[in-house]
Amino acid sequence: GAERAGALVLFGITGDLARKLVLPALYRLTADGRLDVPIIGVAKTDMGLDGLREHTREAVGGVRDAAFDKLAGNLRLVSGDYRDPETFARLRDEVAGKGFVVHYLAVPPSLFAAVAEGLAGVGLNHDARLVVEKPFGHDLDSARALNDELLKHFDEDHLRRVDHFLGKEPVEDLMVFRFANTLLEPIWNRSHIRSVQITMAEDFDVRDRGAFYDANGVIRDVVQNHLLQLLAILAMDAPPSTDARAQLDEKWRVLRAVQAIDPSDTVRGQYSGYLDTHGVRPGSTTETFVALRAYVDNWRWAGVPWCIRSGKALPTTDLEVVAELRKPPVTMFRGGDMPPGPNLIRFRLQPDAGVTFDLLAKEPGKQHTRPVPISVDFTKVLGPMEAAYERVLSDAVSGDPRRFARFDLVEESWRIVQRVLDVPEAPLPYERGSWGPEQAAKIAPGGWHEISTTFD
Ligand code: BG6
Repeated sequence: GAERAGALVLFGITGDLARKLVLPALYRLTADGRLDVPIIGVAKTDMGLDGLREHTREAVGGVRDAAFDKLAGNLRLVSGDYRDPETFARLRDEVAGKGFVVHYLAVPPSLFAAVAEGLAGVGLNHDARLVVEKPFGHDLDSARALNDELLKHFDEDHLRRVDHFLGKEPVEDLMVFRFANTLLEPIWNRSHIRSVQITMAEDFDVRDRGAFYDANGVIRDVVQNHLLQLLAILAMDAPPSTDARAQLDEKWRVLRAVQAIDPSDTVRGQYSGYLDTHGVRPGSTTETFVALRAYVDNWRWAGVPWCIRSGKALPTTDLEVVAELRKPPVTMFRGGDMPPGPNLIRFRLQPDAGVTFDLLAKEPGKQHTRPVPISVDFTKVLGPMEAAYERVLSDAVSGDPRRFARFDLVEESWRIVQRVLDVPEAPLPYERGSWGPEQAAKIAPGGWHEISTTFD
């Protein structure tokens, strides 16, 4: 399953995803000297190879340098329809003799099965890996059906399901922070942690993605995949070894322990003006915000609420995890006019990365406490981090499976949200730029902690 590829086939090379994310990442990898294989674009287009090179130059910001020339030199184009066997015959001729091949499907999921079948029709499913973008399924049943289709032609070992959050260095750093240090582990459990809150906020709306978004909603768009993956990394036990399989197995074990979310533990919202978006159905009840509570039924976490909230048109664009520690059993001190707040451990993941401990210290001259942060900004201390798509693509080529969503994990995450999806509920309205409907406050015990938004 983990052979290094001699060629990269990019289905949908003229599409949106390729232009915004894949081509820029291919350029940066080429510039870093980490990628130098033929890149065969497949698309229904009459732009020709020169046109594709120009298209690529625009996608990477109009650069003229040696790295671009190298990338352009590696580009090939097979133009044709994904349902036409002729397209695949031409592709076969193009990749002949190039060794192990990675097929990267930057196309709508409705085409995944057709492309896999087309590849198999000309034998291109052998010595090859298939990489598919999200969303993987629309619910548990359709995810299983899609997987069965792909498994007809590729085995699990050769399939890679992209979840670009797994390519984010700050996300991966959670695992390092937890398991390379010994400080956290003794308290990282139900005896010491009262709740964990995960906030993924975006201050922009659905923009030009109305039709896509309206068919999905925030639970399908980011909770089922990105945020449950994040929960798994935060809640899992230490893997017994560094190999990919051991990590994926532990993530699976913890997701297995997560109860299906109870619809009464969710609050859904829709921002004002959403219904006027191009592509959104009249009267749509798609949620653009959700706050929910999940429970991990194992010895480490039983009874601790894992609160997740995410939405569009919120006050900021931030990704932060706040773990609230239990308070001391006896209150010896006051905090100003108020009882002192709990200790918090904050993992900041976006836009900057770092960790902050909110502790209490003595207010000088008083017998009061005042919260003081102990903080480290990883970017400042360690330097810039690599972008997610570079890592996803370089793993697609190298074959390392750990930063992809193995099917058993995808299946568990659908199971976890499926009951909520099965009970459709009209979302509550919220104003743009607010933290969602007021009712969302009751999801987190004691309310949501304000997130830090920035280190400075
Ligand atoms: C995508 C979702 O998977 O992730 C988007 O479809 C969301 O709605 C995006 O905005 C967020 O990713 P990032 O890396 O920009 O935080």
